[in-house]
Amino acid sequence: MSSPLRLRARAELVRRLGASLRSNAGGRLITGHHNTNHIVPLTWPLALLLGKPPFGAHAKFRTPIPAPEVCPRAWPREADVLAVVSRHLSEVPRCLADFGTETMHEYRSGECLADLAQYGQPVPEEVMVDLAAFFARAAGVPGSELPPLPADWPASGDSTGFLRRLAAWTERHVRLPHEERFGPLFDAFGIPQDAMTAFGWRRPPLTPRPFCLLHTDVHRANVIVEGAGICVIDWELALYGDPLHDLATHLVRMEYDADERERMVKLWADAMSAAGLDVLTEGLASDLPVYVDFEHAQSVYPDLMRAALTLPPAPKDFDFAAAAWRMCRSVRRAAEPLGLPAVPDEEAATEALIRWYGSAGRATR
Ligand SMILES: Nc1ncnc2c1ncn2[C@@H]1O[C@H](COP(=O)(O)OP(=O)(O)O)[C@@H](O)[C@H]1O
Ligand SMILES: [Mg+2]
Repeated sequence: MSSPLRLRARAELVRRLGASLRSNAGGRLITGHHNTNHIVPLTWPLALLLGKPPFGAHAKFRTPIPAPEVCPRAWPREADVLAVVSRHLSEVPRCLADFGTETMHEYRSGECLADLAQYGQPVPEEVMVDLAAFFARAAGVPGSELPPLPADWPASGDSTGFLRRLAAWTERHVRLPHEERFGPLFDAFGIPQDAMTAFGWRRPPLTPRPFCLLHTDVHRANVIVEGAGICVIDWELALYGDPLHDLATHLVRMEYDADERERMVKLWADAMSAAGLDVLTEGLASDLPVYVDFEHAQSVYPDLMRAALTLPPAPKDFDFAAAAWRMCRSVRRAAEPLGLPAVPDEEAATEALIRWYGSAGRATR
C-alpha cells in the first residue's frame, strides 16, 4: 500500500515531468468550442510512472478558451469532478496534473464516435447499449463524494426547481449579458427578453426524481469507442440534478433519428431498472419532452450568436443567407417551447442579419 507521502511525491513528479513535456513538444492540436487540446506522446519515464506502456501512450493538455459561458456549471474545476468520476468509471480518462489554467489528462487510443458514425449516420446498436449503461453507471456515482454544490442548489428530488434554475440561468447569464450587442438580433426573431423564465414557469410541476451526477454533453464528439466499449470524455459541464436532463441533451445533441431516439429512451430506462434505479425513470413519458423542449429553447441563444460571430470579414450575400438559414433552423425548433407566435422566413432573417451586421455586428467585431 502506498503511503500518502509517497503518493504526493509521485503526483509532484508527474506534475514536473508533465510540465517539461508540455514545454518541449507542440503535439497534435484539437480546438473545440471551450478548449484547445494538445495531444502529446508521453516520454518513457512519465509513461512508466503512470503505469502505461513505455512507447505509444499519449497525454492531452487542455487549456480553456476564454469565451462566454453558455451552459451552467455546478463545479468550477473539471479536474475535481474527474477525480471522483474516474474512480467509479475507470474508463474515464483521469486528470493527471493540474497546472492551474491548463490540465494534463490521460488520452485513450480509441476512435471518436463522431468519426466512426458521423452526424446523419446511424449509431451502432452496441454503442447505444453501452451509452445507456453509461448513464446508469454515472447515476450510481455517490453524490456524497462529489465536490460541494453551490449553497442555493435545489435539493435532490426538486425536479421543478432544477428545471427553473436552468432556465433562469440561461436568461441571466446567456441572454441578458449580450443584450446590448445581440438584443436587436433576438428581437428580430421575436424572442422576448424573459422567454426563458417564462418557459420555466409555464410548465406544470415535474414529477420529483432523485438527483444524480449528470454529464449533460454526451454527443458523438465526446464519446471514444475502444475495443472493449466506450468512454465518455469532457466532463466540464457536469451537473448534479434531474437525470432526464442528461437524457434529453443526449437525444438532441446526438441528432438521432426518430427510431434511434425511441430506442435510446427504452435502453436508458432498461439500464436504470437493471441498476436498481427505477425511481429515476418515474414520470419519464410526461417529463422527458419538457427537457427536450428546454434543450431546444436554450440552444437558440448560442446558436444565434455563433452564427452571427462566425460570419467572415466582409461577408457576401451568400454568407448572410447561410448564417440566416442556420438561425432559422434553430429558432424553428425553439418556437413552440418558447411560445413564439411566428418565425421569420429565411429571406426576412437574412435582411435582419444584414441590418444587425451594419450596426452592432460590424461595430463590435
Ligand atoms: N482521451 C481522449 N481519447 C481520444 N480522443 C480524445 C480524447 N480526448 C479528446 N479527444 C479528441 O479531442 C476532441 C476534443 O476533446 P474534448 O476533451 O472533448 O475537448 P473540448 O472541450 O474542446 O470539446 C474530442 O472530440 C476527441 O475527438
Ligand atoms: Mg468535447
